[in-house]
Amino acid sequence: MSRNSKVKRIGILTGGGDCPGLNAVIRGVTKPAQDYGMSVLGIIDGFEGLVEGRARELKNDDVSGILGRGGTILGSSNKGDPFHWPESKDGKIEIVNRANSALKNYQAWNLDALIAIGGDGTMHICNKLGQLGMNMIGVPKTIDNDLEATDLTFGHDSAVYVVAEALDRLHTTASSHHRVIVMEVMGRYAGWIALNGGLAGGADIILIPEIPFSWEKVYDKILKRELQGKKFSLVCVAEGAKPKDGEMVIKGTDIKRHDPTQLGGIGELVAKRIEENTGRETRVTVLGHLQRGGSPTPFDRILSTKFGTFAIDLAARHKFGRMVALKGDLIKNVKIEDAISHQKLVQPNNQNVIAAKAVGISFGE
Ligand code: F6P
Repeated sequence: MSRNSKVKRIGILTGGGDCPGLNAVIRGVTKPAQDYGMSVLGIIDGFEGLVEGRARELKNDDVSGILGRGGTILGSSNKGDPFHWPESKDGKIEIVNRANSALKNYQAWNLDALIAIGGDGTMHICNKLGQLGMNMIGVPKTIDNDLEATDLTFGHDSAVYVVAEALDRLHTTASSHHRVIVMEVMGRYAGWIALNGGLAGGADIILIPEIPFSWEKVYDKILKRELQGKKFSLVCVAEGAKPKDGEMVIKGTDIKRHDPTQLGGIGELVAKRIEENTGRETRVTVLGHLQRGGSPTPFDRILSTKFGTFAIDLAARHKFGRMVALKGDLIKNVKIEDAISHQKLVQPNNQNVIAAKAVGISFGE
């Protein structure tokens, strides 16, 4: 479309793994649409719906009462990358490029812009669809908080809340039974959930991918705590954490996904090694998708609402190829390509790492 023409119709989709706050963004885009003189088309199941032509109109009534609802009313998928589309042929999966179908549907629906809510996989796709001529606007979501160019993604705070609450619960039972309890959390290659959840929930040991750990240091911490009269320990381990002399633990691979690697299993390994090497009774809890389900926290509801309302305003101002981003206290916009230049990982001198160490939390270094 020409830069001077008015944006009258926008599409919206939620891509990748879900997280709390998606509905609040959809509401934040749809409610103000009328004031901008725009109509909103909700695309079903993320990019899958864009390729397959599945969508429905979104009106005020459709988004009423969804602010605190988890998941996404539009559905999502992490297997619908138009540039990496899994097609079944003779009982086999073949990866093909269906970007043309995505573009055709965008044109057939008369969209002037498309707001895509997602993590790094979604932003990579947005960038490529933008190069095909689609007017893309990104909204950064993921519990992992690993997207560059925004201080935070929405969904992270809600996941951290779940982790902290789980650690509080594990604290009482670990202490009653004088046990070590290892809790594995999500986060892919970034340790943000383990770091922030572990700090908020008072873990004794936090293991993250960015700080490869020494087995000996982990055992030492548990035994030292015992000498101080603490006969239990809580270990919060990120699914991507790895020992200095080892690799990340991979649960499986799925070629249909943007990132085929599925992490998982480090919690079991850490628990087994602790029990074998310290002789202390050890249990493991894998928090899994509990971190992604349920209601967003008030912080995430507010952030998502601001992201959504800002995204529709960007569309009205023809700011395409941009992603909304939190910078300090303000919502700004950045180039989508800046958000995907590299993954945002925990730096060893991060203030939360420093604070955690100051209160005696070990990173197994
Ligand atoms: O990116 C979000 C996330 O929850 C990661 O933390 C985790 O590794 C992955 O998605 C799990 O994906 P799935 O829901 O497909 O098992």
